[in-house]
Amino acid sequence: MAATTFVHLTDLHICEADGKDTDNSSNTLETLHKVLEIIRNIPEKPSFVAISGDLTDRGDIESYRLVRGLIDDLDMPIVYALGNHDTRAGFYRGMLDRSRNLRVPYDHETVIDGLHIIVLDSSRGDRIGGVLDPAQFDFLDAALDREAERPKLIMVHHPPALDDDADEWASLRHADSRRLADLIRDRNVIGMLCGHIHQDRVAHWHGVPVIVGNGHHSQLDILHPRHEIRMLEGASIGLCTVRPSGLTVNFIPMPSQRRELVVFPHGDLQETETEGTED
Ligand SMILES: [Fe+2]
Repeated sequence: MAATTFVHLTDLHICEADGKDTDNSSNTLETLHKVLEIIRNIPEKPSFVAISGDLTDRGDIESYRLVRGLIDDLDMPIVYALGNHDTRAGFYRGMLDRSRNLRVPYDHETVIDGLHIIVLDSSRGDRIGGVLDPAQFDFLDAALDREAERPKLIMVHHPPALDDDADEWASLRHADSRRLADLIRDRNVIGMLCGHIHQDRVAHWHGVPVIVGNGHHSQLDILHPRHEIRMLEGASIGLCTVRPSGLTVNFIPMPSQRRELVVFPHGDLQETETEGTED
């Protein structure tokens, strides 16, 4: 297998109404234009772009149409996942022109340039953290069997919880994370592509690299004391290469002064271990 290059984007948080996010602190539309210009100028055209959720900030149809119009212009395959800021109904209507079955999870798979990409929808209504239900694990299990010889990438907005001390608002539920770890072991998974926590981070998780992209909206200040969440100006994209030896990710940061955008108490994001509501 020759090397395959692709781009990983995440957390676009696009707002059609005014170009800014709900807090009016980050001009994500301007950032997306800059990112698309970078992608167009990559010397060797990437095979595809993977976007791991929070495509829009508010989940409205108009914002999805705006994202679609801009991204389609890249003229390359795009693989989408949904995040907690997305709505399934808005995505299906605005991005896929679908008017039926608007509540079902957007789980899907595709093969591009020999890579088997499996996408799981961890969004659950207004829950901040991620959930995978039993039917989604069945889908994943079957998908992992279908193209057993091909290297596999799993795209899911919420990264798995790295241990049981992890905040569940910042990851998949602990129980789902443990089940995911069991399911992907020795199944030719070369990496997971995630977003949600607005930072560039690589974790070697049960033998699989879990890549979290910072995304376009803001950057979590991981040096700030943990009793508060401090968000800074900051964005990045991932330029990824799959070789026979495995996955490489180069994080490409956008210029930033790391200006403070917002600070709030860490406790504001805690959520209980309950089943989220469907869209
Ligand atoms: Fe996000």
